[in-house]
Order: sequence, then C-alpha cells, then structure tokens
Amino acid sequence: DNTKLWGGRFTGSVDPVMMQYNESLTFDRVFYSQDIRGSIAYARANTHTGILTQHEFSEIERGLKQVQKEWENNTFEVRPEVDEDIHTANERRLGEVIGKEIAGKLHTGRSRNDQVATDMRLWLRDHLDKLEGYLVDFLRVIAARAEKEIEAVMPGYTHLQRAQPIRWSHWMLMYGSFFTSDLQRIREVKARVNRCPLGAGALAGNPFNIDCEAMAKELGFGGLIMNSMAGVADRDFVVETMQWGSMLMMHMSRWAEDLIIYSTGEFAFVQLADAYSTGSSLMPQKKNPDSLELLRGKSGRVFGQMAGLMMSVKGIPSTYNKDLQESVEPMLDHVKTVGDSLQIATGVLSTLAIRPENMLKALTPDMLATDLADYLVRKGVPFRETHHISGQVVALAEKVGKPMDKLSLEELQGVDKRFEKNVMEVFDYQKSVEMRSAKGGTSKSAVMEQIEAVKTALSGG
Ligand code: ARG
Repeated sequence: DNTKLWGGRFTGSVDPVMMQYNESLTFDRVFYSQDIRGSIAYARANTHTGILTQHEFSEIERGLKQVQKEWENNTFEVRPEVDEDIHTANERRLGEVIGKEIAGKLHTGRSRNDQVATDMRLWLRDHLDKLEGYLVDFLRVIAARAEKEIEAVMPGYTHLQRAQPIRWSHWMLMYGSFFTSDLQRIREVKARVNRCPLGAGALAGNPFNIDCEAMAKELGFGGLIMNSMAGVADRDFVVETMQWGSMLMMHMSRWAEDLIIYSTGEFAFVQLADAYSTGSSLMPQKKNPDSLELLRGKSGRVFGQMAGLMMSVKGIPSTYNKDLQESVEPMLDHVKTVGDSLQIATGVLSTLAIRPENMLKALTPDMLATDLADYLVRKGVPFRETHHISGQVVALAEKVGKPMDKLSLEELQGVDKRFEKNVMEVFDYQKSVEMRSAKGGTSKSAVMEQIEAVKTALSGG
C-alpha cells in the first residue's frame, strides 16, 4: 500500500515537487546503521517498560538486522513514493520482514525527532573519531619533519617582508601549535556531541518511563541531554563541529598559502611532489600547486556552510521544525571536506622537498639589524637608542651600496664608537637563531621542546 506512516489524518495527495523537496532519504540513508542501532536499543529498553515482550523484541531485532544486511549488500529497495527518510524507510521495510503486527510497536513513545537527533549524534561521533585520527597523522608528519630538518634556516616574515632568520622547523611548528589547539578542541567538541537524546519523544519526554540511561549506555554515549525539548530542538552539536572545522580550515588555508608562496620560482624554498600538482593544458613548463589551492579554496566553502546553518537555526521557534533537516547535508559535506583536506595536507607535507640552499640565499644581512641593536644592548645601551643606531647603519649600508656585513669596522664606528672588533660576529644567521633560546624561540633546543609538546598532545596530554 502507498500510505505514509503518518498518513492517518491526511486525505489529499502530496504535490510531487513537495515530495522531493521534503524527502531526505537521498542523503540521510548514510545513517542506516545508526538508525538500526538506535532502534534496537530503543526496542530493548521497551522490553522493560512492558511495551514489548521478549519474543517481540527478538523479532524486531532479527528484522532490523536483515534490513541492515540489505543496505550493506545494496539490495534495499527504496520505494520513493512512500520512503520519506531513513527512519520511515527502515520501519516500512521492518514491517514487510517481520509483519506489521509487531513492527508497528517499535515506534511507541518515540518520534522521528529524537530518532534523527540520535542518529546524527551517533554518526557524527564516529566520524569525529576519524577526523581526529587524520589530524593526529598530520601532526605526526609535522613533528617528524621538524625534527629531521631542524638545521634548515630561512627568512621569517612579517607583512610578507623579510624580518628575522628562523628555522624551517620553527615555521612548521607554528602550524604544529595551531593544529595542536585544533586537536584539543575536537576532543572537547566530541564529548558534547556524544550525548544521548533518545527518549525525548517528539518533545515532552517518554510516557512509559523508558530507561534513558540504559539506552545511552548501550549506544556508547557519554551521557544524556538532560532536557527532552533540548534533545530534539537543537543542532548545536553540528554547528559546533562546523565551527571547529572552520577554525581548522582557517589554519589550513594559511598553511597552504605559505607553501604556495614558498613554492614559486621567486622563492623556491620548497618543491611540491608531482602527486599533488597538476600541469597546464597550454603551458608545458607549468607545475601548479592545485592541492594547496584547493585547501585554500575549500576553506571558503566550509565557512559558508557553517554560517548558513547558523542562519537556518537562529530564527526557528522551539522545538523541532523541519528547518532542522537542513543541518544534515552541511554536516555530511563538512565532514567529508575536512577529512579529505587533512589527508591531502598530510600527503603534501610528507612528500614535499625542501631546498635549504635557496632558503639560505634568501637571507639578507639587514635581517640581522635587530641582532646588531642587541649587540649594543649587551653593552648596556638602552634598546631605544640601539634601535636608532642600528637604523643608521642600515641607512649607511644603503648609501654606500654595500651589504651591512661588508661595512668596515671604521665605517661602523663612524656611526657609534661602542662598536668593537667582535661586532662582526653578529653577522651570522646560525648564531642569530641560536640566540633565541628562550621557550618558544627558534634555537635548536627551543624547537626540540616544541616538538616534544606536539608529541605530548598527540598522546592526549
Ligand atoms: N528527516 C527528518 C530530519 O532530518 C526527520 C525528522 C522528521 N520529523 C518530523 N516530525 N517531521 O529532520
């Protein structure tokens, strides 16, 4: 028969465009196993409320497991004229498998409102585990490279102007620090996603005193949503996930942008592996960093979907309204985009070649102007004064057309008498980076400490 599960009070038929506008099975079918797990837990709990006999429960469980198999083997036959979403499709099929007499009891006291919220939280919780795993993989590569390539020194930039020498590892660990925060954040988000709304019913709660805690436990949730209306009304757990992922993609986009710049012929600090580049259909010499550009581009889509979902939710009255169905597709796309992006980033970083000789060549003596000022600071001159003196040395070098480190001692002393012979030792990039040994700095020991901090975070610290 063609009646919908909720068809009792309806007489006319639904506009065909409305049917396809309303249906969600084309995308929420990915929740088939979560839906079935949730139904089994719900049915089991209802053997204790007296709604189901043990025999009825066994039948429901057997039927649901068969439905599960049909989805897995791709033999589940969707009936588009009646199957509105994954919940109605599974229940319709269960009735065909075990008979409507028993199947018709499953939904007692339950609503698709608590059902969909449960399915989404189960699905998202498991996928957040995967995303966390991808993020850990990425951070492992960052830490390993940082350790292996600790000798490479390159220009550090502010305003994209050469600023001070830094270790290449120090640059990598800046992102290591960003992504470590993202790792800590996803763990916090997961704890809030992983709470159970089952038993909330349509909004007011369960009238048969079902054991919500037992269901939550069976489904592996860390706790309950303590208000039935809250359980069905919000998609904050999706929004929070997308805010998390947006922040991650904000970091990822900057990482990609840096590497795009560093891979240009003008910089040539790094070279992208062929596996993550593409050519030009016109210009034979081109090798384009498409992987990095897609990371940067996809971050825009992630932010947009996050903002879109917040706009969908912000004005709806309590509790469940169909608007909430609009949270499903963004969630699915978000998880896929962020998961793919993390894997691509890991691939790019593990196959990237660095060109330490080009990094060195890009260093210029004026990047040591701060070190020159610090030389006089060590002789007791106030920094504001040394800053000015060092600035005059920069100006003199420009005037006589020599790099700063090629000025003679006499020329330097012409600017300030307190420069002595050992001032020439300032003009050493290695020495400059090694000076910065306070925590968080770019000296070897400080960088090693940062690597340890990333590793500690990876293991949950
Ligand atoms: N497909 C729906 C969703 O994703 C399921 C809930 C429908 N509930 C209802 N009362 N119409 O939101």
